[in-house]
Amino acid sequence: MAQETVRRVAPAKGKLGVLCVGLGAVATTFIAGVENIRRGAARPIGSLTQMGTIRLGKRTENRSPLIRDFVPLADLEDLVFGAWDPVPDDAYAAAVHAGVLDRHEHLEPIADFLKALKPMPAVFEQKYVKRLEGKNVKTGKTKRDLAEALCQDIRDFKARHKCDRMVVVWCASTEIFISPGPAHWTLDAFEKAMDTNDPSIAPSMLYAYAALREKVPFANGAPNLTCDFPAMEQLAKEQGVAIGGKDFKTGQTMVKTVLAPMFKARMLGVAGWYSTNILGNRDGEVLDDPESFKTKEESKLGVLEYILQPKLYPELYGNIFHKVRINYYPPRGDNKEGWDNIDIVGWLGYPMQIKVDFLCRDSILAAPLVLDLALFFDLAQRAGWSGIQEWLSFYFKSPQVAPGLYPEHDLFIQQTKLKNTLRYLMGEEPITHLGVEYYQND
Ligand SMILES: NC(=O)c1ccc[n+]([C@@H]2O[C@H](COP(=O)([O-])OP(=O)(O)OC[C@H]3O[C@@H](n4cnc5c(N)ncnc54)[C@H](O)[C@@H]3O)[C@@H](O)[C@H]2O)c1
Repeated sequence: MAQETVRRVAPAKGKLGVLCVGLGAVATTFIAGVENIRRGAARPIGSLTQMGTIRLGKRTENRSPLIRDFVPLADLEDLVFGAWDPVPDDAYAAAVHAGVLDRHEHLEPIADFLKALKPMPAVFEQKYVKRLEGKNVKTGKTKRDLAEALCQDIRDFKARHKCDRMVVVWCASTEIFISPGPAHWTLDAFEKAMDTNDPSIAPSMLYAYAALREKVPFANGAPNLTCDFPAMEQLAKEQGVAIGGKDFKTGQTMVKTVLAPMFKARMLGVAGWYSTNILGNRDGEVLDDPESFKTKEESKLGVLEYILQPKLYPELYGNIFHKVRINYYPPRGDNKEGWDNIDIVGWLGYPMQIKVDFLCRDSILAAPLVLDLALFFDLAQRAGWSGIQEWLSFYFKSPQVAPGLYPEHDLFIQQTKLKNTLRYLMGEEPITHLGVEYYQND
């Protein structure tokens, strides 16, 4: 039986405005996907909120409702979409350009819907994404002026579409690598830095700042710093808003965070892990710039260190050669191919190898994550949870965590954390998998 609800969660009534920063491959695959699903033309495969169940109570109770029947999530019918992009293409033209979804099957039937979605002018500077040029951009004397303009966009969108609530998801290009510095320590320093057009304030930070100012949750799907620093955490807490990131965990890194825990669970050593990708979409082109690639590389490299804990197991993991490459290769478009060569070590030091060749579709993997994040961030907001939402680490390559904590990367620990958080929210017992009660003799 369910216990008394631990948290009061406001009901998901009215419309939820979902604003995507960036209207490229991921965002259009997400938006067009939801519309096809709403019209009954496709299934939401890959989305935990739409297809996943959650076990409640003992295994003998046979209670496994759908997650969307268990927690009060916004209904797909209630989602309204908007976006910003420096490229002026509407969602139809952007989706055709991205070339992910079949034009005849999934774009033409909803062409009017997609053509009606025109991106708002972006806050964009080429300095932060070298391989892009944008014409649909805002102008302003200071970065604070630009952030104010974004706040106005959010308010206008909410009023125009009569939204009850909003959420912003960064689906835009990966910016150049920026280390946190003095402008990021406190909110005061951050706001002063906006006034002086400090170069360490990237456009993505202005979007996050604007969302938080408007009390709108913000999820970051790229590896940029964006909202992963103390000033933004302070603002999120002060405003009572949920934040999280970074970098959707989709292809190769998802596989890595499943295989690496397996090696550690069996105490198999790892001598080397070489990961390389070929990718031909605009994301691949942006990542061909070394400064944007560095941001991605940091995000992709971190996972092994945390999962394998070389300090605890120096003999097994103290000397791993770990390399990640992304190669821009236009013929493949969005259909990325990711190869992993893993050199593992077994009993008495005998070497073995594992090869993975993942022929995936980047945006097909990312789109359901955008949907789940939009719905779960809205849920967190209605539950009154502010600041970093670590329980949503499941979706990120480089999860944001509270200061002093290391991130949890193992996909199945992340899944357990997510589901236990939902149980906790709804007053159900967490599941520990202990199971002694099935075998105890009275
Ligand atoms: N599996 C995946 O596809 C995956 C996984 C993890 C992370 N990501 C990240 O998601 C992001 C989107 O990927 P994509 O394949 O859709 O890329 P994309 O190049 O197709 O789309 C990105 C869009 O963002 C726009 N943009 C750039 N700077 C902007 C700004 N300042 N404001 C508003 N819009 C801006 C670009 O014009 C472009 O239309 C990338 O950062 C990518 O690294 C994707």
